[in-house]
Amino acid sequence: MGSILNPVPAKQEDEEEVPNSSTAALLTTKSSSSEDRSKLSTTTVIFISLVLSTCIALSAAAAFAYLFFYNSPNPTTNEVSRSLTELKNPVVLLISSDGFRFGYQYKTDLPNINRLIKNGTEAELGLIPVFPTLTFPNHYSIVTGLYPAYHGDYFTMHSHESKWWLGEPLWETVTNHGLKASTYFWPGSEVKKGSWNCPKDTVLSYFDLDSDDIPSFMTLYFEDPDHQGHQVGPDDPQITEAVIGIDKMIGKLIDGLEKRGIFEDVNVILVGDHGMVGTCDKKLIFLDDLAKWVELPKEWIQSYTPLLAIKPPNNYSTREIVTKMNEGLKSGDVGNGEYLRVYLKEELPTRLHYSASDRIPPIIGLIEEGFKVEQTRSKRQECGGAHGYDNAFFSMRTIFIAHGPRFGRGRKAPSFENVEIYNLVTKILDIEGAPNNGTSSFPQSVLLPNP
Ligand SMILES: *[C@@H]1O[C@H](CO)[C@@H](O)[C@H](O)[C@H]1NC(C)=O
Ligand SMILES: *[C@@H]1O[C@H](CO)[C@@H](O)[C@H](O)[C@H]1NC(C)=O
Ligand SMILES: *[C@@H]1O[C@H](CO)[C@@H](O)[C@H](O)[C@H]1NC(C)=O
Repeated sequence: MGSILNPVPAKQEDEEEVPNSSTAALLTTKSSSSEDRSKLSTTTVIFISLVLSTCIALSAAAAFAYLFFYNSPNPTTNEVSRSLTELKNPVVLLISSDGFRFGYQYKTDLPNINRLIKNGTEAELGLIPVFPTLTFPNHYSIVTGLYPAYHGDYFTMHSHESKWWLGEPLWETVTNHGLKASTYFWPGSEVKKGSWNCPKDTVLSYFDLDSDDIPSFMTLYFEDPDHQGHQVGPDDPQITEAVIGIDKMIGKLIDGLEKRGIFEDVNVILVGDHGMVGTCDKKLIFLDDLAKWVELPKEWIQSYTPLLAIKPPNNYSTREIVTKMNEGLKSGDVGNGEYLRVYLKEELPTRLHYSASDRIPPIIGLIEEGFKVEQTRSKRQECGGAHGYDNAFFSMRTIFIAHGPRFGRGRKAPSFENVEIYNLVTKILDIEGAPNNGTSSFPQSVLLPNP
């Protein structure tokens, strides 16, 4: 008996341990002899219900504390933004690490990223990408504050022609206000993925300019660990290596800023564009398997996976195609059919904000996490990783870690969508932004107030 009850008073002091102590108690009961068991049972039931009600009370208290914390912009301190010591004007350095899934930061010891987390503000459960959770749409949503339906980039970078690129990216907003911006390395700015080493040095060299010439807004882009994620999936030592590589790059950047005495003056915002999930070729859905219900020639398919996008010729009824496809998928006769659901884009869940454009194909399929759609059966047996799925999947989340004069030290923010970042940056730079899909009150919930 004593051995069951003893842990309780001790553990009660530590809220987090309580659920474990109830598990421990259950285990202890199970291992006691059968003779004791009947005597024990009444006490045990009372004891367990005590533990459970304690758990419920504590979690209610914790939930309350959580809500309280998140509802007040300055939970524990009256911290205000710190004044600049070296720089004349606020600077935002926006860094993207492609495919940095939320949670990669716990894979191993990452001293530099952890430094930013410890002394900065982090989205506690990650940054939510926009749908589709692909590289170009997300990078462009981050810098425009617009969902892809409003910014014109739905899958990938089709073209450098400006007619494809709607909205006002941050570099344009910044320069419209007479400030300088350096956007050399960002998907959607003119230049594609840069080489690994030099962008950091380029960024650092901007800080050696006369203070009036230092860009107010700079971007930096790393194509890792996305590249490895596609090849081997998110749970592989190669990912850990790639993440260590990113951490080292961040370390060099911090060192360079520290050498110039400006690390504390620069608002560094480290984000990713999306997460990554493991895929394997036994998790496949073949469009040819739907032929009994509807023929889907490959010319109609604009994208297979993880975003299925279909544009039949105009003389076909899209609604009829959607109905027939879903009939087939639900019939039980199409392999993995239950893991694909097809929609007219207007009927997609509104939270995806993926219909308000003529350029988005009329038929969109939502694929379950980790599944892939292909046209024809093949013998391929690939395993790897993918992204592009519904942005509600936790695996698609990425990071938001921000450090600098406007960010509280050691603070956590609840998860938010990346369209909020545009307003955050304009607020730090104290300029008026273009209309966008971010919430106007968002910046004050994350930024330290000016003194
Ligand atoms: C966090 O900031 C404080 C105050 O500037 C500093 O003393 C400390 O070394 C920093 N910690 C890390 C991990 O950088
Ligand atoms: C649509 O037009 C194409 C080409 O003109 C034709 O081959 C096809 O049969 C037509 N389909 C329907 C459903 O009208
Ligand atoms: C997103 O922003 C654009 C541009 O301001 C606006 O036209 C559109 O209605 C917004 N959409 C949503 C869902 O807020």
